[in-house]
Amino acid sequence: MIPVILSGGSGSRLWPLSRKLFPKQFLALTGEQTLFQQTVERLAFEGMQQPLLVCNKEHRFIVKEQLTARKLAVQGMLLEPFGRNTAPAVALAAMKLVEEGRDELMLILPADHVIEDQKAFQRSLALATNAAERGEMVLFGIPATRPETGYGYIRCDMSGGGNLPEGANRVVQFVEKPDEVRAQQFVESGDYFWNSGMFLFRASVFLEELKKHDLDIFDTCQATLERSHRNGDEVLIDPATFACCPDDSIDYAVMEKTRLACVVPLSAGWNDVGSWSSIWEVHDKDENGNVIKGDVIAEDSRNCLVHGNGKLVTVLGLDDIVVVETKDAMMVAHKDKVQDVKKLVARMDAQN
Ligand code: GDD
Ligand code: MG
Repeated sequence: MIPVILSGGSGSRLWPLSRKLFPKQFLALTGEQTLFQQTVERLAFEGMQQPLLVCNKEHRFIVKEQLTARKLAVQGMLLEPFGRNTAPAVALAAMKLVEEGRDELMLILPADHVIEDQKAFQRSLALATNAAERGEMVLFGIPATRPETGYGYIRCDMSGGGNLPEGANRVVQFVEKPDEVRAQQFVESGDYFWNSGMFLFRASVFLEELKKHDLDIFDTCQATLERSHRNGDEVLIDPATFACCPDDSIDYAVMEKTRLACVVPLSAGWNDVGSWSSIWEVHDKDENGNVIKGDVIAEDSRNCLVHGNGKLVTVLGLDDIVVVETKDAMMVAHKDKVQDVKKLVARMDAQN
């Protein structure tokens, strides 16, 4: 089994801490190690090869530094000149493997997740392996417990139909990032899983489905790989060809459309640490439900996240507010609105 770590996102919802040149996967947001280091370390068990990494070429030195610091290694890196989202990133990795005669199971892993229960993760992986070996495309599904709008929602046929091995359930409906009203309905129904963004399938199965559902991405990625430059275990993705590649996520381009999708449930203390509210979720709180970091005084405030980074930050009479201070920027937002921090980043990009 070949783990493929996707680490090319910019983590814009965690601005101002996460920056384009130093995005969230390379930050120690939940402990001493960065999310990227935790992701690589989680794979150190029998039967798992060293990971293949797909990331932005600007990040290659951060990656190497973070691997060396923990005595970790990868089997290779695909270095993108710019992001075209996850469908092309997975396609390039799958094409490289097939080209090398290694049509094996690929375990797709985002670089920005927390998984608390390693044993539970390995148990789900074993069930997923049975299904993927039979040609299925497995999504790891987290039972949906709150109306997060930043996730994909999946309903399954839980009756054991669909001729699938134990633990795998056929996908009936997949809705990527619904609005709040729909997300609320999905959670209330109790029938939905969140898409964890982790997948398991054979490289050639993914490529067949991509060809079927998004020929443009398939063709452009194939042309891109042919023109890309190889340097030892690194592949420098050709910018001119890759620029013509449509920007789309694996969820929209393939997983929502394929008939081969099935879910293996994962209950392993998963959190995608994608927004300031998930950072608040995963941290220990004080007696008022506040998560405080740095030089902070919080008075008469509840369920806030206050992140100081040099200056003294004082807050008074706030509920459910996120305050993040860095050297050159400061953000104050309501906790219910933090999915939209990326809108702030888009406005800044438009001004530059
Ligand atoms: N190499 C590469 N290139 N990696 C990328 C790119 C890219 O262009 N874009 C994103 N990634 C990486 C990110 O670094 C992250 O590790 C992973 O791919 C997923 O991308 P996100 O941008 O974080 O996706 P998301 O959080 O909005 O949504 C996905 O994950 C959710 C769970 O965390 C979807 O799969 C949702 O359905 C899912 O619920
Ligand atoms: Mg994410």
